[in-house]
Amino acid sequence: MQQHDSIPSSSLIGLGQRYWLPVYKPRELVLDHGKGARVWDTEGRDYIDFGAGIAVNALGHGDPELVAALTAQANKLWHASNVFYTEPPLRLAEELVAASGFAERVFLCNSGAEANEAAIKLVRKWAAAQGRAADQRVIVTFKGSFHGRTLATVTATAQPKYQAGYEPLPEGFRYLEFNDGDALEAAFAAGDVAAVMLEPVQGEGGVVPATDAFLARARALCDAHGALLVLDEIQCGMGRTGALFAHGDIRPDIVTLAKALGCGFPIGAMLAGPKVAEVMQYGAHGTTFGGNPMAAAVARVALRKLASPAVQANVAKQAQALREGLARINDELHLFDEVRGRGLMIGAALAPAHQGRAGEILDHAAAHGLLLLQAGPDVLRFVPPLTLSDAELAEGLVRLKAALVAYAAA
Ligand SMILES: Cc1ncc(COP(=O)(O)O)c(C=O)c1O
Repeated sequence: MQQHDSIPSSSLIGLGQRYWLPVYKPRELVLDHGKGARVWDTEGRDYIDFGAGIAVNALGHGDPELVAALTAQANKLWHASNVFYTEPPLRLAEELVAASGFAERVFLCNSGAEANEAAIKLVRKWAAAQGRAADQRVIVTFKGSFHGRTLATVTATAQPKYQAGYEPLPEGFRYLEFNDGDALEAAFAAGDVAAVMLEPVQGEGGVVPATDAFLARARALCDAHGALLVLDEIQCGMGRTGALFAHGDIRPDIVTLAKALGCGFPIGAMLAGPKVAEVMQYGAHGTTFGGNPMAAAVARVALRKLASPAVQANVAKQAQALREGLARINDELHLFDEVRGRGLMIGAALAPAHQGRAGEILDHAAAHGLLLLQAGPDVLRFVPPLTLSDAELAEGLVRLKAALVAYAAA
């Protein structure tokens, strides 16, 4: 077998440039290993990780209990398909239902898009079972949303830049302004809305929380008009807001999870509440890898740890410290207009003079040993591990400030 261990990162990057479908533009470094909120590249440089693999590595890197769960399962059985039962996905489903407080059944899959695809199909199947004609099964989604890259989920994603060139898109989606309760009420007037689908905190669209009033009104309107409320908690769920789920007191009909559910091992889930739990019967949907025992074994540990008071308290503590640190930096450098978000899902919106330059700032951050994300061209996105320590946060802020000073000087 070919060994690449001693090849300098530039040659490895060359492989990506030569052989990957060029749909990504990764930073010019090759990450090798990690511990906690710190990762090292193949050349030995270390980085504080404020991106966590896009809100995935919620327990940081190298969590010993996750590693133990994965290796124990890897030594027993890797895969069985859903033609046979294995223990981890059975237990995981039971635990997700219990933790959710609303769900009765769970569909396990492999990614966020696949969970949302299942949710969209479930809405349509439910509406069909209600006797609604095909044109009466509209799903309302919101501008700035992001629900995935499959054809249906990219259509649910109300951002033209993700859809361009993929037409014809599936029918039956209507896009509204986010957090506009009046517009939502007006959209129901046509009588054809089967579901409202939203992120309690929009991630890719700029880290924009739904207001409590908007969420409550969405629930009330869905109830009044016999529609379903679907919450995409793929990025904002699993502890990121400081609670296991982001929807608080609102009872959704469907919730989708992925990202931090496996803390880095690919897994997604769709949680179905009482109105929809029995709608999809034998043969209605499926996936080969869904509920893979290794993924489920990891997710069980992730779920237990992310639901723990210790992790949730750390989210509140570090979120406050991060906001305070950003405010201190901004007092000096005046780069941000607004710092917003919930828990450890924080967006720093760039002031008008710096809009469009988030990518440049990310370059400076990487050069100063900090992995940072953007949410569009105008927002810096902070989604670190939820187990971020005081020392890791402090060091990340020092590196961030150095990066922003270098950016401002450039
Ligand atoms: C809110 C939300 N939904 C869905 C997705 C799609 O998830 P995946 O990339 O795992 O398909 C993402 C990914 O960023 C997301 O943030």
